[in-house]
Amino acid sequence: MAKLENSKLSVIGAGGVGTATAYAALLRGSARTVALYDVATQKVEAEVADLAHGSQFFHGRVIGGDDLAVVDGSDLVIITAGARQKEGQTRLDLAGANIRLLEQIVPGVVEHAPDAIIVLVTNPVDVLTQVATDLAGLAPGRVFGTGTMLDSSRLRWRLAERLGVSTSSIHALIVGEHGDTEFPLWSQAFVGPVPIADYVPVDAPPLSHDEFDRIAEEVKNAAYHVIAGKGSTNYAIGTTAARLAEAILGDEHVVVPVTSVLHDYRGIHGIALSVPSLVGGRGVEQVLDAPYDDDELRLLRDSAAAIAETRAKFS
Ligand code: LAC
Repeated sequence: MAKLENSKLSVIGAGGVGTATAYAALLRGSARTVALYDVATQKVEAEVADLAHGSQFFHGRVIGGDDLAVVDGSDLVIITAGARQKEGQTRLDLAGANIRLLEQIVPGVVEHAPDAIIVLVTNPVDVLTQVATDLAGLAPGRVFGTGTMLDSSRLRWRLAERLGVSTSSIHALIVGEHGDTEFPLWSQAFVGPVPIADYVPVDAPPLSHDEFDRIAEEVKNAAYHVIAGKGSTNYAIGTTAARLAEAILGDEHVVVPVTSVLHDYRGIHGIALSVPSLVGGRGVEQVLDAPYDDDELRLLRDSAAAIAETRAKFS
């Protein structure tokens, strides 16, 4: 099992998300070696050089290039390459282009790094996690995606700001598709040990019924707003991916909402979507059942149906 001290993380794709992932991983010390791969030679060489020039101020080592051999011996490969959302596009609109890309990338990754855990970031991440799982043919849990771990961070940030409580004391998560059918598991949201609906903030009114809906919508649409302003999202997803790398390479066994192919999960079978999952050195080591209420269960199944529908269009 990988150890943080001598671990190797490879990042596929030197675009905004791949470089943000590499940068966050280097600054956080998520892995000893970070390798960046891209087919665009000049771009990847420039990004690696730019990252490496800061080496005096972090502990890891960064390498990379346009030859897939740079991923040899990786403990973890994070795939960020692919077409990205333009204004007006949903994540699911990217399925066709990015499935074709994965068909080119994943077999080579498995050949070069047969022992690696593979984490998908490229969108639509749920559909692509399913595709990559099939292409890789690895043990269950070895291929999964960041899913709603980022959306859950957005939710916790939003609630923390509103309630005046640290993000670390807010226990709340978004589950389902990383996309338009995602939803918060409000029935399991707590401030410390207090159910969120009962929490009375120190200097602000309690959350109203409408606010719960409004916050859920804001979180769901957060990426669209960032895309409208700067063309794409990269820092938050990069930070999320780097944090996930630590959980895997450090064999942490944390419970986080990530996307993996579910089997016999609340009636969902063969579809990848995010539910609370135990993540350690072997990847997703367990998916946890949550006490979903009836509405949440319906939303989870709707989300699974949306992902299945997109997958079916391209199979
Ligand atoms: C986002 C992209 C990663 O939500 O889907 O920022």
